[in-house]
Amino acid sequence: MSIIFKDVTYIYNKGTPIEKTAIKGLSLSIDRGELVAVIGRPGSGRSTFLQLLGGLIKPTSGSITVSPGNSAELMVCRAVGVVLQFHERQFFEESVYGDLSFPLRRAGISEREIETRLRDALNAVDIDFHTYRDRSPLELSSGEKRMVAIAAILVLNPEVIALDEPLAGLDDRGKREIVKELKRLQGKMGKTVIVATQDWEGVLNICDRVIFLENGTLVGDGGAELIKETVSEISPIQSLRNALKLKGVDLGSEVFDAEEAFLRIKMALK
Ligand SMILES: Nc1ncnc2c1ncn2[C@@H]1O[C@H](COP(=O)(O)OP(=O)(O)O)[C@@H](O)[C@H]1O
Ligand SMILES: [Mg+2]
Repeated sequence: MSIIFKDVTYIYNKGTPIEKTAIKGLSLSIDRGELVAVIGRPGSGRSTFLQLLGGLIKPTSGSITVSPGNSAELMVCRAVGVVLQFHERQFFEESVYGDLSFPLRRAGISEREIETRLRDALNAVDIDFHTYRDRSPLELSSGEKRMVAIAAILVLNPEVIALDEPLAGLDDRGKREIVKELKRLQGKMGKTVIVATQDWEGVLNICDRVIFLENGTLVGDGGAELIKETVSEISPIQSLRNALKLKGVDLGSEVFDAEEAFLRIKMALK
């Protein structure tokens, strides 16, 4: 299944003094099995894009369709699962089991099927079903919460999974776990994965494609290599690299964490 955006515009509070065009004339398609990073400065429209993708909001103009497919809008809603930013804050049940099963029970799915789906979804994010099923989601570590938030979407069995800032608020280890998970969702589980992130450098090495938004407009769309140059302007780590280079320390393009950077600087100063 491909998702096709055709000249999509989304305007918040249209017709009021505070109206804001968040997505402007966006045309692109996302193909089955792609792992796509959606990047841009804060306010560039990434979250709005994901919500459109997931059918949570409808375009002000233009169309979003799936191919092959007929009842397009309905299919987009069902086929795309969106893990919202800080999704885990919406956990409200006393147990992991309660939270994850809630939408399934509401959809009238049998208890047996629910248990199977939960087991599979938690397994997929490396959370042991028996150990965690009765634990309170609020007592988990940030990394575990994020994984359970992903599982909460996986139980719905979407073909496409879109994640908004899945690395936000996690430590380096937590981030690495999530990046591994994103790759696994695409590889082993065969999902189409779309990830909006500020931490794009962390995902650059695993994604097939980068979509770069600026003020709601598509300003770059290509492979990770192609895009490295374009995005280097907005990258804090790239400006740090440039500044250090002027002082005679070449970090190279492969350094993404403090430990590694520290070693390189130490070596350069010897
Ligand atoms: N619920 C909303 N109501 C009004 N304006 C919004 C709303 N959500 C986002 N915006 C505005 O739309 C633009 C795009 O926002 P968003 O899609 O959240 O960008 P990003 O995720 O890239 O930071 C921003 O200018 C933002 O202020
Ligand atoms: Mg956002």
